[in-house]
Amino acid sequence: MYLIKKSQLVCSRIIIALMFLVGAQSVHAQTTAEERGKQDFVTYMCYGCHGFTGQGGQTDVAPRINVDVHTAESMAAYARNPGGRMPPYHTEAQIPDQALRDIYAYLKSLPPSPAWEDIPLLND
Ligand code: HEC
Repeated sequence: MYLIKKSQLVCSRIIIALMFLVGAQSVHAQTTAEERGKQDFVTYMCYGCHGFTGQGGQTDVAPRINVDVHTAESMAAYARNPGGRMPPYHTEAQIPDQALRDIYAYLKSLPPSPAWEDIPLLND
């Protein structure tokens, strides 16, 4: 009869755990910047004031995040040192640079807003 030694069992468990880890890593590597940014927009609470697509809320909450005007760098610089009521995200611990770049990629990937002339309700 073949007996499995305890050390072999521990060893195979470690190998299985490593296989899971490698699998999880490659799944993560396959996510796009846009997908990560969409998640980061929620994780770092941007959506709470700016809405899920950065569209902005009522004027007394937060404006639209205007990625037509912003570059990735200027948007990140703003988040690190906002001017007014927005809470500052000064450090990497508050939000990593990578997350800010991914958030920008996410917002940039969204379809542009229609011109006001093309919205019937605004032309009545
Ligand atoms: C607690 C509410 C709140 C949260 C959370 C928040 N913001 Fe803001 N944000 C504001 C407000 C209010 C303004 C308008 C300017 C001001 O008062 O600072 C603003 C302005 C901005 C602007 C300038 C708008 C423009 O297009 O020039 C950018 C960029 C921005 N926010 C990005 C972010 C990002 C990215 C996050 C998440 C990492 C975030 N904000 C989280 C409230 C918020």
